[in-house]
Amino acid sequence: MKFFIDTANLSQIREAQDLGVLDGVTTNPSLMAKEGITGNGNIIKHYKDICEIVNGDVSAEVISVDFEGMKREGEMLAKLNPQIVVKVPMIEEGVKALKYFSDVGIKTNCTLVFSSGQALIAAKAGANYVSPFIGRLDDNSTDGLELIKEIRQIYDNFAFKTEILAASIRHTMHIVNCAKIGADVITGPLSSIKGLLNHPLTDIGLKKFLEDYKKGN
Ligand code: G3P
Repeated sequence: MKFFIDTANLSQIREAQDLGVLDGVTTNPSLMAKEGITGNGNIIKHYKDICEIVNGDVSAEVISVDFEGMKREGEMLAKLNPQIVVKVPMIEEGVKALKYFSDVGIKTNCTLVFSSGQALIAAKAGANYVSPFIGRLDDNSTDGLELIKEIRQIYDNFAFKTEILAASIRHTMHIVNCAKIGADVITGPLSSIKGLLNHPLTDIGLKKFLEDYKKGN
């Protein structure tokens, strides 16, 4: 299972990279704005900076909502660095763009996926990653993990190569449950990833080991 961090914050990306378990980064326009990164020039520089920190895939989202605009933006983004994955929204023009990018060998991540039907068409169009937003479904009284299960079954039925990238992760148990279901990738905040480390019995056990060591020395 791959771990991506869902942020545009460079220090958090560095911290996750230093932990040694990071496989990539996902960003979106909201995450960029949260870091105060605005204007095309700054946004492009930021993508380049992120690519220098991590070794894996870096999702960069298009802003256009028409096929020609997405094609133009996606081709420009893909040229920035071979690590760039063009993030395309799940809309009709987006499906056309996914197919185009697939045909010309540009990696894609289909975003804003909330149903198994959307995930099916993204795979048919050749998306490399599909991003079901599980936290936002949970926020709306719909079980996000059930969607991951459905997509896993559909992709396995037909051996689709599209990787399930569970997005909108809200907490550590989302990650554990996605691992149990068989999501290929999770993307979440640093706090959710580092939460995997925690167990009070580990802390209690370590404290006791160190105390006992001191007694003998
Ligand atoms: O990057 C897409 C997705 O992970 C967004 O998450 O927390 O805004 O629902 P969130």
